[in-house]
Amino acid sequence: MTAKPDEGAPHAKPNTDRVFIFDTTLRDGEQCPGATMTFEEKLEVAAYLDEMGVDIIEAGFPIASDGDFEAVSEIAKRTKKATIAGLARAIDKDIDRAGEAVRHARRGRIHTFVSTSPIHLAHQMKKTEAEVLDIIAATVTRARNLVEDVEWSAMDATRTPIDYLVQCVDAAIKAGATTINLPDTVGYATPDEYRDMFRQVRERVANSDKAIFSVHCHNDLGMAVANSLAGVAGGARQVECTLNGIGERAGNAALEEVVMAIKTRGDALPYMTGIDSTMLTRASKLVSAVTNFPVQYNTAIVGRNAFAHESGIHQDGMLKHQQTYEIMTPESVGVGKTSLVMGKHSGRNAFRSKLKELGYELGDNAFEDAFNRFKALADRKKHIYDEDIEALADDNVAHLNDRMKVVALQIVAGTNGPQSATLTLDIDGNQQTVHATGNGPVDATFNAIKMLVPHEAKLALYQVHAVTEGTDAQAEVSVRLEEEGRMVTGRGADTDTLVSSARAYVAALNKLMVRRQKTAMAHDAV
Ligand code: KIV
Ligand code: ZN
Repeated sequence: MTAKPDEGAPHAKPNTDRVFIFDTTLRDGEQCPGATMTFEEKLEVAAYLDEMGVDIIEAGFPIASDGDFEAVSEIAKRTKKATIAGLARAIDKDIDRAGEAVRHARRGRIHTFVSTSPIHLAHQMKKTEAEVLDIIAATVTRARNLVEDVEWSAMDATRTPIDYLVQCVDAAIKAGATTINLPDTVGYATPDEYRDMFRQVRERVANSDKAIFSVHCHNDLGMAVANSLAGVAGGARQVECTLNGIGERAGNAALEEVVMAIKTRGDALPYMTGIDSTMLTRASKLVSAVTNFPVQYNTAIVGRNAFAHESGIHQDGMLKHQQTYEIMTPESVGVGKTSLVMGKHSGRNAFRSKLKELGYELGDNAFEDAFNRFKALADRKKHIYDEDIEALADDNVAHLNDRMKVVALQIVAGTNGPQSATLTLDIDGNQQTVHATGNGPVDATFNAIKMLVPHEAKLALYQVHAVTEGTDAQAEVSVRLEEEGRMVTGRGADTDTLVSSARAYVAALNKLMVRRQKTAMAHDAV
């Protein structure tokens, strides 16, 4: 096995077997505890996915709430290239709602699913195998009467006896399904098993060539990407995945890993995708910013350390020849060299073009806001790096539609307590100020927020990291709150750790409000 960088290497694409990328960041990804996105955030992510070359965007679960329905239908209207999918259980009202949501898409898809494994049939569905076969035929037919593009998924396929799975797939294709998805719903399969399942089903279903087969893998045993690629080796040509691998429990297969594995190892994985890989890093940052889910430093492809060489031996090798320790170039995934960008004398145009270079297109108000914050930052911080601008722009994007905002914060801290905080919040356009004490300045700040926004949510995580080096670095704070099983995460960035903390806490409360609304609507809908 010879490892070579992906760019310009003729060996990289010996074969052009196209694999379709189905991104479900906005559906399975958003289902992950704490990853709620607002309507505007979903539109922004969808637009970026479309530009990046994603083939199918699963934009949501339209029956789940009015918010989900609105997001799917607005994304369907706006998207220029990708197919837009809406998820539906095997229930008529779900299918009709999904059909309605994707009606205006250039190409709309209804993605309907039903469980097929004995454990799901016995305990969750309380149905027999014969009954489920009838449900598959009826629901896929109903979906096909609404749209031409219908995906059918066998939930828990990997724990379904193969003979019955073959019957289910046969029924779905006969009823008109154009994509057959066989998910590893609980992240249980091994790569060999998953590949063989696709091989067998494709061989045994008489009309299997009428549909594209799809993989959908969860990461409970850390094998989601390996399983996805094994499924492709078994004949699947659609990979369902999410950015940063977010999703239920341990998450889904990470889009960036699937794409770069195929791109880098064309010799072993002779396929191609339509993804512009230079947009991956920015895509990952965008999703991290809107979900407030940090990307671990050592994450493959998009982690901060993915291209950092720390050990002396590695650095020495890299200086002599880049390929000694790098199998793909940072540029190929959109990582630029960290550069000293601007200072307090930089004007609007320079700031706008820097934002553009980093992949941000802000609207007028958001731009003004970001520019003012950049100026304030430049007054306080000597060197401003790309990471500073990104943290600032992400923070801006994440808080654009917040109902509550931090206006001012004064802290009294030091060795002699009690520490205290005087805080002004803007809540729906009204400014209110309180003074609170606490066991340390962070506690005082959070107590002040609680006085202004009383709530019972528990603090599940408080995390600080420095965006760049140096004592004047911006601090990026993540705050996770938990309320009645709902988890939300907020993030804030500022050179003052306490201001970041207040912003992060308030951001989490803003998300909690969206989440409460969504849960209430979901209960009404189901
Ligand atoms: O994991 C799963 O089985 C799913 C289905 C809805 C496709 O997400
Ligand atoms: Zn899933």
